[in-house]
Amino acid sequence: MSTDGKDSTNWPALRAAATAAASRAYAPYSGLRVGAAGLTGDGRIIVGSNVENASFGLTLCAECSLVSALHGAGPAPGPAEEAKEASTDLVAVAVVAGDGEPLLPCGRCRQVLLEAGGGDLLVDTADGPVELKVLLPAAFTATDLSQRREQQKQ
Ligand code: THU
Repeated sequence: MSTDGKDSTNWPALRAAATAAASRAYAPYSGLRVGAAGLTGDGRIIVGSNVENASFGLTLCAECSLVSALHGAGPAPGPAEEAKEASTDLVAVAVVAGDGEPLLPCGRCRQVLLEAGGGDLLVDTADGPVELKVLLPAAFTATDLSQRREQQKQ
């Protein structure tokens, strides 16, 4: 754990939301239901579940569904100034299997979560919350892209 005592996340509530999402998964091929729940900086809980496909390779992981839902939801409604100030990025994520126990995100999902929450995003594990930068060290980010891309020819 490396949360520096700044973590005010209600992890039981987040894990419960992930477990409920797992119960709504569509996983007839693997039989592994997965649910993900993310807490945003402006206090909302967004969920996603895995959605499989007969072509297997088109399967959507629960975390990808969560990030898609995050963008679809937009910011918190209402005129509250503090809601406008608050970040719509993810600050904490719980991912569970159908049994409600934590499941560590696959490599692709770690990269997808990084874009939505950054390296400080807290990820639930069986041993407590861990920062995403610990689970995905030396990650490729938008900084690499802006620093390394070649100029477009006119
Ligand atoms: N799965 C997720 O939803 N998230 C992960 O991080 C790992 C794997 C799903 C995809 C597939 O539907 C099933 O688990 C088996 O791989």
